[in-house]
Amino acid sequence: VAGGSPLASRLSEVRSRFPRVETDAFGRRRAFFDNGAGALVLGAAAQAEHETRINFSAEHDSIQEESVEAGRRIEAGRQAVADLLHAPGGDCIVSGESATALLFDLSYALRRELHGNENLVTTQYEHYANASPWLELQARGFVREVRVAPTTEEGRLDLPGLAELVDEKTAVVSVSGASNLFGAITPLSEIRRIVRETEALFVVDAVHLVPHAAVNVAELDVDFLVFSGYKLFSTYGSFLYGKHEQLERLTPYKVKPAPTRPPWKWEHGNRDPAMFAAMNAVVDYLAWLGGDGGARRDAVGRAMRAIRAHEASLSRAMLGGLAGRPGLRLHGPTDGNDLELRAPTFSFTPTSLSPEHVVERLWKDAAVFVRQENFYSRAVEALGVSSVVRASLAHYNSEDEVRTFLEGLDRALA
Ligand SMILES: Cc1ncc(COP(=O)(O)O)c(C=O)c1O
Repeated sequence: VAGGSPLASRLSEVRSRFPRVETDAFGRRRAFFDNGAGALVLGAAAQAEHETRINFSAEHDSIQEESVEAGRRIEAGRQAVADLLHAPGGDCIVSGESATALLFDLSYALRRELHGNENLVTTQYEHYANASPWLELQARGFVREVRVAPTTEEGRLDLPGLAELVDEKTAVVSVSGASNLFGAITPLSEIRRIVRETEALFVVDAVHLVPHAAVNVAELDVDFLVFSGYKLFSTYGSFLYGKHEQLERLTPYKVKPAPTRPPWKWEHGNRDPAMFAAMNAVVDYLAWLGGDGGARRDAVGRAMRAIRAHEASLSRAMLGGLAGRPGLRLHGPTDGNDLELRAPTFSFTPTSLSPEHVVERLWKDAAVFVRQENFYSRAVEALGVSSVVRASLAHYNSEDEVRTFLEGLDRALA
């Protein structure tokens, strides 16, 4: 069994659930290592979306069966997300256009709470989706300052550095659950302890975390957490978990006739039942992966732990070929024995070739799909470069694909 993890022994079964895992739509066999930008879609999610789109396009909230069923699918999707995140119930789950839009919406809702003398704390390794909403609040005078927690040389969050920034004037601490550039997973429980010594709200951008690790919002005691369906094998469209009391208390921008209760009061316009049905299918898939027995949320937790173990094997193999390799500078944690807090996301700068060249050679000569860009990451700016190459794996990737990538990289860098 490759890698020795239980998921590795079921990998062909897992891969068969993803219609485009072996070949692209043009029939080209390729290794897909661009999951952080947008994951491959689960076949069952696309089917659920299609079936719901065809059969339940009638608007929900009327008495006819098709309308009632459209509403049911929305609520079932909310419940699925609640199961995924270990949230108390579907009424804590708000949907929106994207994680970026949901974080902006949250920042608008917070305006009424602010007096202009507060600070907000984020980190150096945020995607701008979790930086610009806060920077805009500062630019428009709603808060005094946005403080940025540093990262270590290895691309991990500097926890004491963050602790120093949080004080009694901190209104929000908003961190990504995992860096989409470095792959470092943020020690959220430790941050929770720091935040809970103050009155600040604890917000997590979990877009890069949710595909790779079990998330338990109740245990983490976060106030808000966002992630995106298209990074989790589903459709576009994103979700915001909010603590019920916070969703009740805050006053988001809304149209007057819209319901005043959460989650609806947070949502702009009508919902798409097909998007919820697709997410429900993803959570069912994860529950299947986690095995029979007990509640769906427990099965999902088991699946995510199996995914972590398999991804750790992949990461070890990736680091074996990338860490300390001449011809490139690897950003992010390099220790193959310390993978507990690491997602299988690897960014690097070639030392004497352009990132464009490496991406092109990997694609044309080795059929490996990686990407180079700035990834909307504040960390790329801090590295002093305009783009990096990123290989971003998911649980359906195999050790064979890692070998293909590393061999292709040897040729690309030669
Ligand atoms: C960590 C992280 N946060 C936020 C986003 C933005 O997500 P969305 O496209 O849903 O706005 C991304 C997208 O790459 C991301 O990687």
